Amino acid sequence: MSSNSDAAAATVHARGRLAMLAAHLLPFELTDHDALRPIPLSAQLPPTNLAGSLTVVDDRTGKKYQLQVSKEGTVKASDLKKISTGKNDKGLKLYDPGYLNTAPVRSAISYIDGDEGILRYRGYPIEELAEKSTFTEVSYLIMYGSLPSESQLAEWEFAISQHSAVPQGILDIIQSMPHDAHPMGVLVNAMSALSVFHPDANPALRGLDIYDSKQIRDKQITRVIGKITTIAAAVYLRMAGRPPVLPSNHLSYTENFLYMLDSFGNRSYKPNPRLTRVLDIIFILHAEHEMNCSTSAVRHLASSGVDVYTAIAGAVGALYGPLHGGANEAVLKMLSEIGTVQNIPEFIEGVKARKRKLSGFGHRVYKNYDPRAKVLRKLAEEVFSIVGRDPLIEVAVALEKVALSDEYFIKRKLYPNVDFYSGLIYRAMGFPPEYFTVLFAIPRMAGYLAHWRESLDDPDTKILRPQQVYVGDWLRHYTPVNVRTTSRDADKLGEVSISNASKRRLAGSGV
Ligand SMILES: CC(C)(COP(=O)(O)OP(=O)(O)OC[C@H]1O[C@@H](n2cnc3c(N)ncnc32)[C@H](O)[C@@H]1OP(=O)(O)O)[C@@H](O)C(=O)NCCC(=O)NCCS
Repeated sequence: MSSNSDAAAATVHARGRLAMLAAHLLPFELTDHDALRPIPLSAQLPPTNLAGSLTVVDDRTGKKYQLQVSKEGTVKASDLKKISTGKNDKGLKLYDPGYLNTAPVRSAISYIDGDEGILRYRGYPIEELAEKSTFTEVSYLIMYGSLPSESQLAEWEFAISQHSAVPQGILDIIQSMPHDAHPMGVLVNAMSALSVFHPDANPALRGLDIYDSKQIRDKQITRVIGKITTIAAAVYLRMAGRPPVLPSNHLSYTENFLYMLDSFGNRSYKPNPRLTRVLDIIFILHAEHEMNCSTSAVRHLASSGVDVYTAIAGAVGALYGPLHGGANEAVLKMLSEIGTVQNIPEFIEGVKARKRKLSGFGHRVYKNYDPRAKVLRKLAEEVFSIVGRDPLIEVAVALEKVALSDEYFIKRKLYPNVDFYSGLIYRAMGFPPEYFTVLFAIPRMAGYLAHWRESLDDPDTKILRPQQVYVGDWLRHYTPVNVRTTSRDADKLGEVSISNASKRRLAGSGV
């Protein structure tokens, strides 16, 4: 910040913005029912010290091994290596496809108790943050571990806004994409291009130790969080066939994003404060979710020492996948297919007969109501009160009620997840379905960057390099092609279709 008066002005500005947003919080207060829900003892108290040892008897050899158990209740996978049957056995390995029970990191950023439906950022329950905080405050919390003081928040917001401008070359890349390109594909390209436009922050050019500097790290953090809304807005405007709009430094983070989408160049345009607050809460809910597919991708890429922009571009690529960031679109399709409340019983029977899945229900981690879905359900009503009621909400609420009282779903602990209501809100707010995942990516930058930062400081960080269980042919020797025999069942190149244009070209001469 250039001077004390600038800092003071920014503080007052930040306080003003918080007050403006807080004025719209009332509709999101927890209901008595939620507030009175008893927090189970296991979630109130920190876990007890689980340290000790584990004695393993290998029935194959009769040998006994003692493995150390950490206070968090983990054993080191590499300790299993010493469990071996002899010379030709390189030791026991964990076979864990999908990483169902493998923790490659220790992290202090967020905590999930899927059985109890609990999500906390740095110890704060997600419901409390959604009700009382703002996205910028939460992103600071996620990044640096504590809620900011007034002046820290002001400096944080100032730094983010100072980095919201995007190089023209990146805007040109966005504009040059095909008109029907998927917005997430465009976003992956733009994030990866940031790497090229910021060679000053590239370990491949400036040395592996550049991120040891807190100043350099913080600069990349504010750059990414500052630029993501400008890039996301440019992606949206390209879809709409409109030119990018410059960010405004006089608006809050989320207001500025909506301003860039909707101002049509009118510098005095102000987005609706209630819709801004709804989107800000949605950003809070999506900011972080521990070692999900895309966040672990950031850690994976960053472990090679690649620059932070390339690591984040890889994560955005993982988020693009329909099993990760794209499920809310499937919920919308399903609700449209069901159409009316009367059709729900027949649909549910189809799900129970395994003809299809109930989209937006079930989660790998949550075996209880996803706490984010609860907040989103209330937000949906808030959005409808502004832009009009989406008829599909009646279908969604009735469907949820039927499912939650049906033995099939109860037995399997299937509850609504974050995607069950978010698609309806986005649709009501006028976002096209292909853009939903971009709205997820914007706030998730905070989580990605916090994990990147944590990994840089963790003395246990190593290049991520999992093992495999080799099950292929053992040893074969090369034979010349003229004496080779091939089995009919052996895998081979299939038919690669040739377009009519290629056929036309091939029919000509000199190709
Ligand atoms: C999220 C999801 C992939 C988690 O999968 P998972 O942890 O591997 O759980 P499983 O697929 O093993 O499911 C366990 C059981 O519940 C059933 N089940 C899980 N989700 C279901 C759903 N949405 N509708 C109907 N049945 C479902 C499975 O068929 C299985 O039943 P079974 O034991 O009789 O075979 C899965 O619940 C799902 O596909 N949900 C719908 C898609 C979705 O909303 N994704 C967004 C997640 S944020």
